[in-house]
Amino acid sequence: MTLGLTGKNILITGATRGIGAGITRAFAAAGSSVVGCYRSDDAAAAALAAELADTPGEHHFVRADVADPADVQVLVKTARERLGALDVVVNNAAAISHVPFAELELAEWNRVLTAGLTSAYLVTRAALPVLADGGSVVNIGSRVAVVGVPLRSHYAAAKAGLLGLTRTLAKELGGRRIRVNTVAPGAILTEEAAALPRERLARYEAMAALGRLGDPAEVAGVVVFLASGLSTYLTGQTLTVDGGM
Ligand SMILES: NC(=O)c1ccc[n+]([C@@H]2O[C@H](COP(=O)([O-])OP(=O)(O)OC[C@H]3O[C@@H](n4cnc5c(N)ncnc54)[C@H](OP(=O)(O)O)[C@@H]3O)[C@@H](O)[C@H]2O)c1
Repeated sequence: MTLGLTGKNILITGATRGIGAGITRAFAAAGSSVVGCYRSDDAAAAALAAELADTPGEHHFVRADVADPADVQVLVKTARERLGALDVVVNNAAAISHVPFAELELAEWNRVLTAGLTSAYLVTRAALPVLADGGSVVNIGSRVAVVGVPLRSHYAAAKAGLLGLTRTLAKELGGRRIRVNTVAPGAILTEEAAALPRERLARYEAMAALGRLGDPAEVAGVVVFLASGLSTYLTGQTLTVDGGM
């Protein structure tokens, strides 16, 4: 059995930093071509493109806000023009903030729900006409969706919404052999997490059975598995990648 991802075309949102960059690197290493989007950090996008320059396949990074329907249309059009039909869509980009529920204004609720849940609707729906039969959609959720964490009601609601979207789309798209799954990370050591106070990182480490934070590559490995020929009878599921929290 092989991954079967050589020469496949992958669309990844939030592809240039953190977990998304890990996912981009993993698909590139598997021989796939990638169109990835980012919101504003041109330097991070250029650095990742340079890093992957000698890796087989094409790797293009497009500035596109997944919360903006017009940007999403341009993103999918660019992916089609650069790569042709898509085989995999990874809905990774999201927004987060930490606000007591009693102080959570509607604008902030809407911002986090739009970037974290509506974005998956926008990107998946726009990509559907160019997503090959037998393809795969992978949503990046969060362990927070099923356990709840104070100050993150909007984020948890967005991530919980992804679970219902995942199960339902799996049933709607199964007729085209398109599989839809979610990966729910725990605490992952991204560039942003590395800047958190040491005591907070130690608290997250202690919560995991493995006694450490996850690496973006360890989330990416599960995303690649879900997109690959190793998981062809797996759909509508959420795989939690949290080191045993
Ligand atoms: N990190 C964790 O511990 C953790 C835990 C559980 C779940 N997750 C989930 O994993 C995913 C990735 O998290 P992360 O911490 O790696 O993310 P992140 O560091 O906040 O974001 C990294 C990438 O997403 C892009 N991005 C952010 N908002 C965007 C938007 N509106 N449109 C397009 N691109 C956007 C960024 O572009 P710019 O650089 O240009 O801003 C960057 O490429 C998210 O869905 C998050 O909720 C993360």
